[in-house]
Amino acid sequence: MKALVYHGPGLKTLEDCPKPVIQAPSDAIVKMVKTTICGTDLHILKGDVATCAPGRILGHEGVGIIDSVGPAVTVFKPGDRVMISCISSCGKCEYCRRGMYSHCTTGGWILGNEIDGTQAEYVRTPHADTSLYPIPEGADEEALVMLSDILPTGFECGVLNGKVAPGATVAIVGAGPVGLAALLTAQFYSPAEIIMVDLDDNRLGIARQFGATHTVNSRDGNAAAEVKSLTGGRGVDTAIEAVGVPATFLLCQDMVAPGGVIANVGVHGQKVDLHLETLWAHNISITTRLVDTVSTPMLLKTVQAGKVDPSRLITHHFRLDQILDAYDTFGRAAATQALKVIISM
Ligand SMILES: NC(=O)c1ccc[n+]([C@@H]2O[C@H](COP(=O)([O-])OP(=O)(O)OC[C@H]3O[C@@H](n4cnc5c(N)ncnc54)[C@H](O)[C@@H]3O)[C@@H](O)[C@H]2O)c1
Ligand SMILES: [Zn+2]
Ligand SMILES: [Zn+2]
Repeated sequence: MKALVYHGPGLKTLEDCPKPVIQAPSDAIVKMVKTTICGTDLHILKGDVATCAPGRILGHEGVGIIDSVGPAVTVFKPGDRVMISCISSCGKCEYCRRGMYSHCTTGGWILGNEIDGTQAEYVRTPHADTSLYPIPEGADEEALVMLSDILPTGFECGVLNGKVAPGATVAIVGAGPVGLAALLTAQFYSPAEIIMVDLDDNRLGIARQFGATHTVNSRDGNAAAEVKSLTGGRGVDTAIEAVGVPATFLLCQDMVAPGGVIANVGVHGQKVDLHLETLWAHNISITTRLVDTVSTPMLLKTVQAGKVDPSRLITHHFRLDQILDAYDTFGRAAATQALKVIISM
């Protein structure tokens, strides 16, 4: 089968790989129908993710059709259409029982990281019963690709951890797919202001269409002052970091109001300074999280009910044999105006 293989920082190829086989009784083999590329795949290609070894098939998002199941799989059978969660969870270990699937002792974020992923014709999904979701009849499968990772990530790591509340002020730094997913799902809670910060005016324009009340281009280094002036000098109740570089985590520290929360979403590959010399007296909280995907069933219902439409994030379509072009398009988003790219098998 064809698959996109990571060969170390900066190196990837589309190549022939063996079709995966069932390794454990709870595994399923899924024939991929659609997948996508995540900002995290770009972090892997920058060498930021040490757990992802050269030789790995990338990808942790997508929808597909069950090809075969191990003897312990009871929920799914060959032919079923499924959405693949980026997080594999056994449902039984201590972390899973606490709803912290991301730290499942035999799962977590392993797809396209510690085991081969979804940017391929077939993928082996461990703990299939508790890591796959049936696709409802008539659902928009491309919209559901957004539910594998970015919608629960923006919601859980950004909105829930950031304690977005009615009437509150929110800043989201990073208007990529994850930041925009946080923007869409923050509106479940009716915050008064949502200020979107990015370097890319096209993405900021999209953020306004998606419900941002203000946008700030941080190119000139004055973003914190602009956010302060938009909030009567106070700063924001919730600052969501959805980029993953030191500059943006520092920016969140400069714009959080007393009593506020900095909710980090970005994957960081470098250390960042924490300015306790100013923040020690500001009653703030800082949260970090790897998405647990515990909210996926709820988000699926909001999508099915038309309360949120994640298909608005899709800008480009490719076939698997064009995946290198898809990476190029996604990696040069400022020039190509890409958000999420769909890759169909
Ligand atoms: N915590 C988790 O579980 C989890 C899950 C998925 C993704 N992520 C991470 O979330 C982050 C965002 O993902 P994405 O797919 O939206 O990525 P992306 O690369 O598409 O978007 C990042 C955005 O940040 C903007 N940006 C870059 N530098 C900036 C700066 N100095 N100031 C303001 N904006 C800046 C870019 O213009 C871009 O629009 C990534 O770090 C990704 O790895 C985390
Ligand atoms: Zn991802
Ligand atoms: Zn577990």
